[in-house]
Amino acid sequence: MRSNILYGVGLVLTLMLVLVVSFIPLLNAEESQFRKQFIENYNANSLQAQTFLIKKNKDSIETEVNSLITEAMAADKNYQDRMYLLDIAAMIATMHIHWNNGSEELLKKVETFQKAEFKKEQVKTEEMERVKEAEKVPGNFVMAAHKEEMAKKGLAPVIYPHWIHRAFFRCKVCHEDIFVMKRNGNNISQANIQEGKQCGVCHNGAISFNASAEENCARCHIFGKQESKPLLDLSYYSHNKFKEIASRAGSEWKPENLTGGKLPLDKLGFINWIELDKMKAFNPRTSLGESLDTEGIRETSILFQTPNAFLKDVLFSHKIHSTWVKCSLCHPNIFKPELGANKVTMIEMKDGKSCGRCHGRVSFTYADCLRCHSQTKEKPPEGALINKAGTTAPPQ
Ligand code: HEC
Ligand code: HEC
Ligand code: HEC
Ligand code: HEC
Ligand code: HEC
Ligand code: HEC
Repeated sequence: MRSNILYGVGLVLTLMLVLVVSFIPLLNAEESQFRKQFIENYNANSLQAQTFLIKKNKDSIETEVNSLITEAMAADKNYQDRMYLLDIAAMIATMHIHWNNGSEELLKKVETFQKAEFKKEQVKTEEMERVKEAEKVPGNFVMAAHKEEMAKKGLAPVIYPHWIHRAFFRCKVCHEDIFVMKRNGNNISQANIQEGKQCGVCHNGAISFNASAEENCARCHIFGKQESKPLLDLSYYSHNKFKEIASRAGSEWKPENLTGGKLPLDKLGFINWIELDKMKAFNPRTSLGESLDTEGIRETSILFQTPNAFLKDVLFSHKIHSTWVKCSLCHPNIFKPELGANKVTMIEMKDGKSCGRCHGRVSFTYADCLRCHSQTKEKPPEGALINKAGTTAPPQ
């Protein structure tokens, strides 16, 4: 008997549990049913159905709006999805005021979230625009890996301007003895710098301004400030300033050799470094002393024949490249040092591989097609080695 009663109670409890459990999804389904209906009415522009729906669900509207807010603010939502859900919440809350005489607080609550999200997005977009502006000059990099730590000290992110540095140092001074050639690949920190590593190899008061001195912090931590303009529009440059820096940094700057007395510019208005070398207007350092440049210069040129008849061929000059860059930076990681062993394509370059490791990032960009595609097929350059990988089918 007893066991029968217990059995009965147990059965009832189990049934209740089953009911409750199956009700949870039902409740949810009912809520989303309301939302679904609301959106359907909205899309159908059916005001009458909407009025009816809002009135009928009067008591659950606050819950519905709050759950929309919670869902909108979930961490995995992007701005568009978030604003979409908040817009629905705002519409429901507005109609609730009109047709149910509902509280205005609910709408205000939604609007507070909308405004905050809008503001956040605006700040983000403006920052992205400012980064784009600061990085317009090839090789100007905004460095903001430690954004929070910098902000805590009231410091802006850093701008690293390649163009100022390469006027006094060839790439091989830094790559890769001091920095690997990859953005955010060096874990640069203020402690390292002040110990004389990384930027501190030079920014120590000897070769260049001292990164440990309070008055110099803002010379690097300059992103987003009015003072950064000269780094972005090249107006940092003046004959005398560069002469003075060159003599201190152990290189040469000879403005008297500049044709027309001005920096030579390319089609896009950036410095043409090849012309500077041709004019012998500068002579950047190739090493900082101890680590002598022992690899030297290679004189060979390699002709890449393009498959298209209408497109000029490309001449790769080892001389130009090994003047700036160490052999070991390109070989063997970027290119196998063997004639015809590398098939070069534009797609790869656009993905930042092959020639695109430098071109389009620090060296001149693709927009200037003819700077690479410069060789007529009728009269191939004398003495050039020929890479045939592009003209024949790749090995299977
Ligand atoms: C004074 C030092 C210095 C010199 C000289 C220098 N660089 Fe850099 N380079 C850097 C620093 C610093 C970075 C960024 C590293 C980081 O973010 O960790 C960098 C990064 C790069 C990158 C990586 C870009 C990317 O999108 O990942 C390329 C490419 C590059 N340099 C090419 C060059 C070339 C080409 C030259 C010579 C024309 C050159 N650099 C000269 C310091 C230098
Ligand atoms: C190989 C030496 C060298 C290294 C390494 C180096 N710099 Fe410089 N930097 C210079 C020289 C030289 C100048 C020219 C300014 C001067 O000395 O008067 C300069 C100028 C600058 C400027 C121009 C601002 C101004 O007020 O003149 C900025 C910004 C800058 N460096 C940032 C950096 C950062 C950031 C790093 C490390 C990521 C770095 N530099 C690494 C040598 C170096
Ligand atoms: C030669 C350029 C240069 C100068 C000058 C300089 N910094 Fe920096 N600083 C950097 C770079 C580069 C970073 C790393 C940026 C990043 O996070 O991507 C950095 C990072 C920082 C950071 C955040 C990361 C960390 O290591 O704590 C702080 C804080 C900082 N600097 C403080 C200072 C102060 C204070 C001064 C002046 C005494 C100063 N910096 C001068 C280049 C410079
Ligand atoms: C900017 C990148 C770059 C640098 C720096 C560079 N090379 Fe090359 N090298 C190439 C490319 C591209 C090829 C063509 C390979 C092919 O045809 O597939 C090549 C081909 C070669 C070849 C075979 C063709 C020839 O010239 O005989 C050798 C050997 C070679 N490099 C040695 C060197 C040495 C030594 C240095 C330094 C003095 C150097 N390279 C610097 C990119 C570079
Ligand atoms: C940094 C040098 C460089 C620049 C700048 C450049 N190219 Fe190329 N391009 C090459 C090389 C190298 C090849 C390989 C040649 C071959 O096919 O053997 C090539 C191949 C091509 C090819 C045929 C194979 C392929 O990959 O599609 C086309 C088409 C082409 N380039 C178009 C362009 C156009 C258009 C521009 C300007 C928007 C341009 N290139 C700028 C170096 C460059
Ligand atoms: C490691 C970096 C690096 C790589 C990789 C690289 N270049 Fe360059 N290239 C430079 C530098 C630095 C210059 C000097 C001019 C500049 O920086 O704007 C230059 C200059 C040139 C020039 C001379 C333009 C003129 O006005 O005379 C041509 C052409 C060229 N590169 C083609 C190529 C081709 C094609 C490839 C791939 C096969 C390639 N480069 C790969 C760094 C590189």
